[in-house]
Order: sequence, then structure tokens, then C-alpha cells
Amino acid sequence: MVCLGNICRSPMAAAVAEDLIGQAGLDRQVEVESFGTARYHVGEGADPGAVAALHRHGWTAKPHRARQLEVDDIKAADLVLCADRSNLNTVRRLAVSGGEDPSKVRLLRSFDPGRRQGDDGIPDPWGGGDQDFDLALAAIEPSCEGLVRELATRLAV
Ligand code: 4NP
Repeated sequence: MVCLGNICRSPMAAAVAEDLIGQAGLDRQVEVESFGTARYHVGEGADPGAVAALHRHGWTAKPHRARQLEVDDIKAADLVLCADRSNLNTVRRLAVSGGEDPSKVRLLRSFDPGRRQGDDGIPDPWGGGDQDFDLALAAIEPSCEGLVRELATRLAV
């Protein structure tokens, strides 16, 4: 999971995905990590607003230290899911620069069956209030549900 700062959207997305992956019994097959494209917040924990929103909605906030995405992280991943189109463009360029297939870099919302045309990002809640974090989570939840449904299908033996 990738966003800009790795303190709001991608840590929330990773926490939701991890909980759903556990519930689906896929935790031995699927590992989730999160990164930011920027280095502004490297080493920091998740934003308190993100942690509070996860708790309000019944998810498990995980221990977190913000990291900046590097090309080796893309190489190590099967799927790189971006919070918005700005992140997508940055990460695809990084993938290509490292000789990686940019098609494994996608928008997280591409897994949200309810997304509408022109509404394919996770709104950035940084600096906002509870409502902004709830809005981000409301886009993250159906996206992660769609993601885990697809993983369950693909990984079924
Ligand atoms: P995130 O939110 O990308 O969801 O972690 C942001 C965090 C920090 C900044 C912007 C967005 N910033 O400009 O520092």
C-alpha cells in the first residue's frame, strides 16, 4: 500500500487489508506492507487521526514506522496499490526506472466495485478532522474487501 506520507492512508489501508486477509485465512500466503512516495515523515508513527479512525470502525491499528518506497520494494512485491493518481504516476515511473513491470502498480480503488468514474482515489485526510479520516476509510474499506475477494479467488487451491 502506497500513499504520499505513509502516515495516513496507506497505514489505514494496510491495517484493514491485514484484518480482512486474516479473516479470510490467507495470512500465511499474503503479506501487506505500506510505504510513502515522500520522505517527509520517515520514522514517524501513523497519524493519530488514522489510528483513531481505525479504532472507531473496529479495525486493528498495527505498530507502524513510516518508510519511503524504493525500487527494491517494488521488486519485492507482487502488487503495489496506490492511494491516488499522483502516487500511481510516481510509483510507475520508479518501477520503470528499475526495469519492473508497471502493470503491477495499480490504484487501490480499482478493487472497489462501487467506485465511480472520476472518483478513483482515496481522499487525503492529512491535517483534517475525524470526518476526513472517516471519508478516507469509507473508500479504503470496500477497496480492501474487493482486493481480498480477488486474492481468495486467485489463491484458492
Ligand atoms: P498520507 O497523508 O499520504 O495519506 O500519509 C499525507 C501525509 C503527509 C503529507 C501529505 C499527505 N505531507 O505533505 O506531509
